[in-house]
Amino acid sequence: MKKRFPIRNHVGRYAGLIHSQNNKHVPFHRWYPFVEGFSSNFVKVIIDELDYKPSFCLDPFAGSGTTPLTCQQVGIKCYSFEVNPFLHDVMKVKFYKRYDGQKLENIISRIDKNLLIYKRGWKYPKIETQTLFEREDLKKWIFNKEVTWGIFDILNEIFKLSNTPEEMYKPLLKVALASNLIDISNVFRNGKCLSYKRNWSNNGISRRGVHKKFIGFCRDIILKDVLQITPNNNGIDNSAFCKEGDARKLVNELEDRSIDLIITSPPYLNSRDYTDIYRLELWILGYLKTYKDERELRKSTLRSHVQIAWHKEEILKIKQLEKVIKEIEKHREEFWNNSIPEMIKGYFVDMNIILKSLYKKMKINSKAYINVGNSSYFNSIIETDTIIAEIAEMNQFQVDEIRAARYLKSSGQQDSKKIRESVIVLTKI
Ligand SMILES: C[S@@+](CC[C@H](N)C(=O)[O-])C[C@H]1O[C@@H](n2cnc3c(N)ncnc32)[C@H](O)[C@@H]1O
Repeated sequence: MKKRFPIRNHVGRYAGLIHSQNNKHVPFHRWYPFVEGFSSNFVKVIIDELDYKPSFCLDPFAGSGTTPLTCQQVGIKCYSFEVNPFLHDVMKVKFYKRYDGQKLENIISRIDKNLLIYKRGWKYPKIETQTLFEREDLKKWIFNKEVTWGIFDILNEIFKLSNTPEEMYKPLLKVALASNLIDISNVFRNGKCLSYKRNWSNNGISRRGVHKKFIGFCRDIILKDVLQITPNNNGIDNSAFCKEGDARKLVNELEDRSIDLIITSPPYLNSRDYTDIYRLELWILGYLKTYKDERELRKSTLRSHVQIAWHKEEILKIKQLEKVIKEIEKHREEFWNNSIPEMIKGYFVDMNIILKSLYKKMKINSKAYINVGNSSYFNSIIETDTIIAEIAEMNQFQVDEIRAARYLKSSGQQDSKKIRESVIVLTKI
């Protein structure tokens, strides 16, 4: 069957740029190891190919902030929206330019010295989730007792900065602690959720080891980068345009025809729930206190996962979507969650909502670059890229092309078909 949209091979150009691995050594971008992001170079390559100089960019699903931070570094203002409050803070601390390196150095040295004093244990905080910290009545836990004390020592030092002239360094230090949480825990991120490491109960990390890791990260990564900030770096500070919340609502608050570039990567339709993947950070750093908080956060995420039961949803009138849903429905007996069809329908309804609003907010002739991955459920491939392209066209965008960026083997897939990851290029006409 002839493809409706041109799908061009850009694997050679994009394969090395589409993942966040490249951000690992890039100043500021390296402050938090966000796996699901693209690289700063990916954003730069897009900006370089434009035949106009953008004045206002937007990333409605900004994650760790690669698009707005890169824009800031090359002198472009950029709005960024992110529903996860922890990730929102991760990006905001990276934009901020008024840190004083000398002051930060003093704070780190003081905390380093203070951490030597802690010897006694801590009362566990009043949070509803009960499996984080080692307790005698639990079979499994995520942080051993020594590690738990080490974390609380650091948090106590960070909270001491409240209501002092050094308060502005608190979010920065929280991100430094967050960057090490997985390493010192008994779990690893396995793509969709957190799984226990081998020999998890005996990871050999001491209370002092936790302190040292934190101080080392503050000095070797954060402080080094902060010392690079000069007052007359270009004047743009994208923290002013960074908002926490649901992009489906926040986009409507922008002025019509004010945006002339979009570079974004919405959650993929792969049942990955960011509230789950980043749950350690969300609970330990105080963003969540009750299960109700957690549920509310999940409810405002895009419908790309089945961690909550989505209400019945109408299906968009798109032939290939109707066809693939029918195929998947045949496997109802094998469903590991009954909400799978509602998630798929809801995902594309959400894409329709967002693309409709984005169209209104963009200037004529400006470009949108959307990085997505296709998915596979019960051996039926969902071509997310071509379906989104069709939705974009329904909303009056011109689909310039779909760029194949990488091919991945899907987990649980029995045949040899590879899953495409792409960049959809749109023009507002
Ligand atoms: C693929 S990640 C984006 C990564 C980003 N490009 C980067 O390099 O860091 C998608 C992000 O969308 C966020 N998200 C999910 N639902 C959202 C919503 N309704 N509004 C805003 N952000 C949302 C997720 O929390 C996640 O951080």
